[in-house]
Amino acid sequence: MCGIIGILGKADVAPMLLTTLKRLEYRGYDSAGVVVINDGSMQTRRAVGKLEALEMALKAAPLQGNSGIGHTRWATHGAPTEANAHPHRAGKVAVVHNGIIENFQPLREELLAKGHQFASETDSEVVAHLVMRAMDQGQSPAQAVASTLARLEGAFALAFLFDGEDDLMIGARRGSPLAIGHGEGEMYLGSDAMALAPVTSRITYLEEGDWVVLTRNSQQIYDALGNGVSRPEVMVNVDAMQVDKGNHRHFMTKEIFEQPSVMALALSHYLSPDHSQIHVPGGAPDFTRFDRLVLVACGTAYYACHVAKYWFEQMARIPVEIDVASEFRYRAPPIGRRDMVIVVSQSGETADTLAALHYVKGKAGQVVAIINATESSIAREADLALPIKAGVEVSVASSKAFTCQLTVFAALAILAARQRGELDAAGEKAQIAKLVHTPRLLDEALKAEPQMAAAARELAKARDILFLGRGPLYPLALEGALKLKELSYIHAEGYASGELKHGPIALIDERVPVICFAPVDALFDKTVSNMQEVMARGGKVLLVSDAKGIARAGKGTWAQLEMPECDPFIAPIIYAIPAQLLAYHTATEKGTDVDQPRNLAKSVTVE
Ligand code: F6R
Repeated sequence: MCGIIGILGKADVAPMLLTTLKRLEYRGYDSAGVVVINDGSMQTRRAVGKLEALEMALKAAPLQGNSGIGHTRWATHGAPTEANAHPHRAGKVAVVHNGIIENFQPLREELLAKGHQFASETDSEVVAHLVMRAMDQGQSPAQAVASTLARLEGAFALAFLFDGEDDLMIGARRGSPLAIGHGEGEMYLGSDAMALAPVTSRITYLEEGDWVVLTRNSQQIYDALGNGVSRPEVMVNVDAMQVDKGNHRHFMTKEIFEQPSVMALALSHYLSPDHSQIHVPGGAPDFTRFDRLVLVACGTAYYACHVAKYWFEQMARIPVEIDVASEFRYRAPPIGRRDMVIVVSQSGETADTLAALHYVKGKAGQVVAIINATESSIAREADLALPIKAGVEVSVASSKAFTCQLTVFAALAILAARQRGELDAAGEKAQIAKLVHTPRLLDEALKAEPQMAAAARELAKARDILFLGRGPLYPLALEGALKLKELSYIHAEGYASGELKHGPIALIDERVPVICFAPVDALFDKTVSNMQEVMARGGKVLLVSDAKGIARAGKGTWAQLEMPECDPFIAPIIYAIPAQLLAYHTATEKGTDVDQPRNLAKSVTVE
């Protein structure tokens, strides 16, 4: 992962390196650093921890100079220490790196045998040494970078500066994104357009295998074969990229409470003005062309796919396969022209999901991306990119992106059902009418926050917590467990209610809270039976249901959380609220870092 930035500027760059790095902190936040060229020579500041630590280091010992590179890290090779923080230097070369150099070990051994000494345990440092070695042998910086790139295996975005070269910066990408930003007599490099938003909206995206030699007034881009190429400059809408917490204590609650309004926005994007039809701006996919849908994503986005599988199969009667992207690509499943592949990603930069997209391109009949970051690699590389309209999601744990992904999937499932003759015009309208109620019902669900906070005070004492759900609420149980784990660091698992008796029930005793998502639907009585099995073994059940469900099955449970009554179709969207808020309040009760939980990053750009 990691975020990288580079600036050839007209004034001191250290403050702007910090500002732009702040916008990349979602990529990693365990250490950070900058190199700035002052009077021709490079100076470094690095610090362990979030960017505030680097800010303090720069306050204590400011750096002056108009050229610099910076990095915020999510550790892969080597612990988050100052020595392992980027930039890494070797002789006249400084480098920042996002990705993994897979053959770093043999390269490092080769360099050690030749007398090189390493200051860190990282894979990245070998890159600086290889470039330095090539320069020592007489190559120019550009030649040295080119010969080094040829030796690297794995994924990377790199930015280089060189001692004594105040007007030169070199960037390269393979497998990890990198963009050039154009200013007036200034030039920038950044992991994404959002980082560059404070300085420019004029962006050139490097393509796979590209590398670029930049000065303040020129750029020369080369492709992987070393041919000079030109890539288009595009204008990026940077206004939409400004973010703050509003009146909320955390981005996480702000984003949870934004869900009714962003969902309404997503709905208005995909519905005709009279709410009679699904309308996909820019051209609807044609589901009659396909025999199968293959849905691929990671983490929370994968659970959105899991819910969508129920919707597409039940409503549109089309077979759906789902997989997590990291498994999908290596299992190399057969994909043909009658398959539509839908990849889902909030960030649009998740390396596993991007690799899955690369795997299916050219094989599948159509590759659709359901995406939040519309300027991302996945959005640009898919045949069709459908925005979820959630707005910038800052908190590392996904919340509003999940419900907006579900919204887009719900619209597509209705569309598919209509196109495939499973719904007539009246049926389409009736399903849309259910969806249109969702923002109001989300609002109602949010009103149960005080009860969720009270339940969380108990949950925070637990060591293990189980989540149960049936049908499309099963993925919600998985999502609830994921949210709780990542925010509160309490071990949690989600199970299909009916599966519990096949093993996991052995975990049940009075110390293990069991959270049961059970709206009154066709499977309600079955879920209640599974809940009874838990209570019969001393298990402590938190029943999350509507008023009718609580009246029917609340007796004997440890606590109840009342959700608004809703049609079973939209229940997975509504029950996202308790999945998120129970985790949020358990985490605040425990005092963990809600917006930036330990060991995580918002955009996972390594495999
Ligand atoms: C969990 C979470 C992650 C992401 C996953 C995919 O709260 O946020 O599981 O959902 O890393 O990220 P995107 O959607 O950016 O591809």
